[in-house]
Order: sequence, then structure tokens, then C-alpha cells
Amino acid sequence: MNPYENKVIDESRQGEVLEILKPVLSEPTQAGTKKMFLESYGCAMNFSDSEIVASILTGKGYSTTKDFHEADLILLNTCAIRDNAELRVRGRLKEYNIAKRKNPKLMIGVLGCMAERLKSKLLEEEKIVDIVVGPDSYRDLPNLIESVEGGQKAVNVLLSLEETYADISPVRLDSNGVTAFISITRGCDNMCSFCVVPFTRGRERSRDPESIIVEAKNLFEQGYREVTLLGQNVDSYLWANGKAKKELSFEEKGKAFSFSNLLEEVATISSDLRVRFSTSNPQDMTDDVLYSIAKFENICNYVHLPVQSGNTEMLTRMNRGYSREKYLERIAAINRIIPDCGISTDVITGFCGETEQEHADTLSLMNEVRFDFAYMFAYSERPGTMAEKKYTDDIPEALKKTRLQEVIALQQKHSAERTKRGVGKVHRVLVEGVSKKSTERLYGRNSQNTVVVFPKENFKKGDYVNVLAKECTLATLIGEVV
Ligand code: SAH
Ligand code: F3S
Repeated sequence: MNPYENKVIDESRQGEVLEILKPVLSEPTQAGTKKMFLESYGCAMNFSDSEIVASILTGKGYSTTKDFHEADLILLNTCAIRDNAELRVRGRLKEYNIAKRKNPKLMIGVLGCMAERLKSKLLEEEKIVDIVVGPDSYRDLPNLIESVEGGQKAVNVLLSLEETYADISPVRLDSNGVTAFISITRGCDNMCSFCVVPFTRGRERSRDPESIIVEAKNLFEQGYREVTLLGQNVDSYLWANGKAKKELSFEEKGKAFSFSNLLEEVATISSDLRVRFSTSNPQDMTDDVLYSIAKFENICNYVHLPVQSGNTEMLTRMNRGYSREKYLERIAAINRIIPDCGISTDVITGFCGETEQEHADTLSLMNEVRFDFAYMFAYSERPGTMAEKKYTDDIPEALKKTRLQEVIALQQKHSAERTKRGVGKVHRVLVEGVSKKSTERLYGRNSQNTVVVFPKENFKKGDYVNVLAKECTLATLIGEVV
């Protein structure tokens, strides 16, 4: 799955695949004498990767701190999806300049997609950076740190065909103790023309299902009640004893362990463990997956299915592998197979050559589908992508933004309609914590991922509560326990 500008930051966005506007800082962990300050930008996958990094370094004598002033090591896990995601990181590095002047021994590492995209160039451009490490090389961090301690700068941006960190037990950071992410695939082979991810996260590979199930079971035993299975394209998850997908014959592929198999296996751990996943891809989402969702009460009725554009020619330029009709057919399948399913999407405005008609087609598709949520972006050209090489980024920024505003306004209307429809109904809510607005209220989400707020009574985090929604704001249902 999952940062997304223009999103409303409210409780409904917790635990989703989204770009996080404010960096997520890790909670202090104990163990070790040296202190690391770890912050994550970008999608849920990055956040999940930070939990792997924390695990690797906790084993090497580091504990985490929330105060970068007392850190020996600052790590920024970065995002490269749009230009402003990178600008934000560069801005943050300037702030650390002051800390480094006070403490010349302070080590600064840049992790993640921006590290992978810029490689050693980052060391030249940002003089305070000591370590540059890409998403597949986190196991090497202890060695890289040692090099820096020895007076050298260190870079490892090797991408791997196998690395899934399957054996590493993540240290949960900033956890509410109820919901957690589990990564199931890494990388992406889709090559959408606008997207930098295949270049920064490498080829797609699936993780051994046994390690996924063990991780989910452990989480459940520790009191967690919801897991979100993460991948850039979860529908292409396939496990055949570690064999790469392209080595498999058609027959072998048919016999391999698929995403719907995995979903069902995780859902079988306990009916009290909710299962979510992100992100589905319109060209790969099969009916099998939808039937699994329908079959298991605890697999949430919620699908995030990025459309990007409502116009077939535009989708072809984007190399998305589906048409408007095919996308609408997938939406129809969701609505047919899963009654009352929440559906969300991603939209890009102002991609290369976007005509008024193509933009209007996106709006008309939104009107047809009426998404529950959407993450909406103005196109940002990324160096090295197919779009950068093949097309001209010819839509003026102002027009990209105007179209974006139109898309946002329409989505807000649809989201409000969606929330209103929930009023008068009873929702099964998994409690995630105390409402930000009132300590007398708790909040959680229903199966469709809508936030529901209700009086605390004697309920606590991790409980399932049936709430009758009495009223709502734009994105939140407010109700009473029944
Ligand atoms: N498959 C991934 C997609 C990651 S990128 C997943 O797990 O969700 C998230 C979203 O960012 C994309 O769906 C797309 O809408 C948007 N995006 C990607 N590249 C972009 C670019 N160059 N400019 C603007 N938006 C972009
Ligand atoms: Fe990017 Fe398309 Fe993969 S949006 S992450 S290339 S599915």
C-alpha cells in the first residue's frame, strides 16, 4: 500500500496506507546504550520498514529516542514519490545541521526511496549526511555505521531479488497496540509510467507465507486485533517455495499459494483478528480475493483500488494495464460480491497531455463509482520514469492544481454522502483509542474503514463494540453503544 497531500488528517487516516505529512517519530525503546532517532516519511510500507530497521539496530546496542537532541544517530526513512516529499526531507536535514554543529559525532543516515533514487549523489548534495541506504540493504546498517565511526561516509543501495526481511521480527513503533502492518511483498513490477517506486524498491518478490502467519499469530497473542497486509500490489502475491514468479509455468502458478489463500489463512488465526490489506491493483484483482472477503466476517469490507484517471487513453499513457470499462467492471464485481463494501482510490490530475475531456472523464468516473475516500495528487514528474522519458510534463502547475481542487471538491461531497449513509445503522467497531477531541469518548473504525466515535463507558482499546450511529461530521460517525 500507501502521503498523501490534501488528505484530511483525522482519526480515519490512522493505520491506512498514506503519506504522512508530519513525520512519524518512534516511541522510545529500551536496550542498548546508544540512541537512535528514527523518523519515517511516506507510505505505510516505509513505516513498516522502519520497524525492521529498529529491530536490526536494537540488536546492535541502540535504543530509540523521541528527542533528536540526545541522539547518536538520526535516521530519516524517506519518500520519493513526488517532488515535495523530497523537499520536505531536505528541509528537515537543514534542521539537523544545527544539531550536528553542536555534536560533530552525530551520525545522520538517509534511508528509503530518496536514498535509492539519489544514491551517492545525496552525499554531495547534502553534506551533513553520513549514510545512504536503500530499502533492500537495511541488514547492512550495522556495518555502515561502523564505517562512519571509522571516519568514512557509507553507501549501500543494492537492490535485491530475494530480500523480504522475513526472519526479522519488527520492533513495533508508535503502536496503539491494536493495529499493525505486516509486509507481504516488496518492490513492484508494474512500471506505471509516472511512478518512481519500481526504481526505488526494485523487483517484486513475495514473502514466505509461513513467516507472515507466524507474525500475525504473534501479534494476536500480544493483544493486537487488526493486521494490514502490505504490498505495492497485493494481488500479485504468489508463493511457490521461493521461486520467482517469472520462472513458474502456467501450471505451477495455478498451484502456487495466492493472495486469496494468504488472506484466508491469516483470517483463520482468529475471528477476533481483523484483516485489511493495501494496495489492490485493478489489473490484477481477481474475484477469488473478493469471495475471500465475502466469506470471512473478519476480513474487512474495504478495498483501496487506485484508478488514477477515468479516461482509457490517459490510462494507456500511464501504462496502467486497464481501461475505464475494465476498472468499472472491477467496481461492479466488488459491489456484486461484497455487499456494503467501502471503496477508496487514488487520483492524479494534470498528467502529461491531459485534455479537458480526459479530466472530465475522471470526474464522471468518480460520479459513477462514488468512492468513500480518495487520495488525490497533482502530477509530479519523477526523473528516470517512463513518463519523463516519453512524454512532456506539459500541463501548467496552476491548471494541475485547479483540476485537483475540482477532484477534491467532488470527493468531499461523495465522502460526506458516504458518512451520512452510516447514520441510523449499527456498526461493529474495533476500539483503537481515546478520541482526540474528548477523553470521555473512544474511537475506532467499522469494517468499511469509517471512523466511529462513542462514549467511553468501560470499554477499552482492542474491544469490539456495536455502536448505533446517531449523527456525523464530514468523515466521522458519532453514536451510542447498543
Ligand atoms: N501501488 C502503490 C502505489 C504507491 S504510490 C500502493 O501501494 O499504493 C501511491 C499513489 O501516489 C499512486 O497510486 C498515485 O496516485 C500517486 N503517485 C505516484 N506517482 C506519482 C507522481 N509522479 N505524481 C503524482 N502522484 C503520484
Ligand atoms: Fe507505482 Fe504502479 Fe507499482 S503506482 S508502486 S508502479 S503499481
